[in-house]
Amino acid sequence: MRCSVYIATSLDGFIARRDGSIDWLDEASARVPAGEDCGYAAFTSTVDTLIMGRKTYEQVLTFGNWSYELPVVVMSRTLTSLADGAPSGVTLSNDAPAQLVARLGKEGCAHLYVDGGATIRSFLAADLIDDVTVTVIPLLLGDGLPLFGGNPRDVPLEHVNTRAFDFGFVQHHYRINHAR
Ligand SMILES: NC(=O)c1ccc[n+]([C@@H]2O[C@H](COP(=O)([O-])OP(=O)(O)OC[C@H]3O[C@@H](n4cnc5c(N)ncnc54)[C@H](OP(=O)(O)O)[C@@H]3O)[C@@H](O)[C@H]2O)c1
Repeated sequence: MRCSVYIATSLDGFIARRDGSIDWLDEASARVPAGEDCGYAAFTSTVDTLIMGRKTYEQVLTFGNWSYELPVVVMSRTLTSLADGAPSGVTLSNDAPAQLVARLGKEGCAHLYVDGGATIRSFLAADLIDDVTVTVIPLLLGDGLPLFGGNPRDVPLEHVNTRAFDFGFVQHHYRINHAR
C-alpha cells in the first residue's frame, strides 16, 4: 500500500486561513495557464481512494460542485452518518489510520491519497505516509491552518524532485523511507 500527500501551501506553510478559507489558493489557481494542472491528473490517475478529513469534506461541500471521481472516505470521530445528499462514492470511517489503511488494502486498494491537514498529520504520526508532494504558492499568509507540526518524532525525507513553474508555483516531491 502506498499513501500519498498532494497538497498546496503558502510559502509559510499554511493550507488554509484560520477560518478554513482558501480564497488565496483559488486566486493563485486562477492565474495558472489553461491546461496546466501541476501534475494533479497524473497523480490521481494512480490513486484508488481519497481519504479526506471531515473538515476538508465539509469545506469542499460548500463549493457546490463535487469534482472527485475517486471513491472518498471521510474520516471523523464525531459524525455518525453522512448527511442526506452526500455525493455518491463517499463513505464515512471512524477507524484509526492504520486500521483504515489495512481495511482498504484488503478491499483491493493499492494507492491512497490522504488530504486535510490534521488528517495528514495523524497519518504521519502513524508512519503511514510514503510520499509528499507540496506545491508552494508564492504568498505569505502570516497565519492559518498548518500542514505540518506536532509530529512525535523526526521524519527524514528523501528529495525526489522539484519543479518550478513560470507562474511562480514551486512543487516539491519527497519520499519517506520508513525505518521498519
Ligand atoms: N491547501 C490545500 O491544498 C488544502 C487541501 C485540503 C484541505 N485544505 C483546507 O484545510 C482545511 C481543513 O484542514 P484541517 O487540518 O482543519 O482538517 P482535516 O484534516 O480536513 O479534518 C480534520 C478532522 O478529520 C477527522 N480526523 C482527522 N484525523 C482523524 C483520525 N486519525 N481519526 C479519525 N478522524 C480523524 C476529525 O474529524 P472529527 O472532528 O469529526 O472527529 C478531524 O477534526 C479546510 O479549510 C480545507 O479547505 C486545503
